[in-house]
Amino acid sequence: MLRLPFASVDGLEVAPELAAVARSNFARLHERRTTIYTADATHFDRYRDYDFLYLYSPFPAVVMTQCMARVIESVDERPRTVTILYVNTYCHDQIVATGRVTFEPMGRTPYGNEIKLYRLT
Ligand SMILES: C[S@@+](CC[C@H](N)C(=O)[O-])C[C@H]1O[C@@H](n2cnc3c(N)ncnc32)[C@H](O)[C@@H]1O
Repeated sequence: MLRLPFASVDGLEVAPELAAVARSNFARLHERRTTIYTADATHFDRYRDYDFLYLYSPFPAVVMTQCMARVIESVDERPRTVTILYVNTYCHDQIVATGRVTFEPMGRTPYGNEIKLYRLT
């Protein structure tokens, strides 16, 4: 993602020890466009700052539903299209159930994991 001209490429991780590893990795890259937040995605209060979300199989269904509710609140607050790239699409039904997305298949990763792209408005 850092190869693309995004203004920032931030991370959200609930486990402090994993967030620390991510910060350490980005420090080694001397990358200044990245902030790693230690927070629960169901309570994260900065979704309004983002237009793209990359989800690598992060949550069970109940958490995905709550996370999408926060994202939708942010779109209602700051109207825009949020593009979501989701790998291992176990919670596809929860995302579609928001009634706010269109989606398209994006094939599979080299490891065979399904990828879907959603546009949430
Ligand atoms: C499959 S790993 C993905 C790791 C890494 N982001 C990647 O793309 O390779 C999913 C991560 O989501 C984190 N996670 C699980 N529930 C979360 C929540 N409610 N809020 C934030 N992060 C969460 C887990 O701790 C885990 O590190």
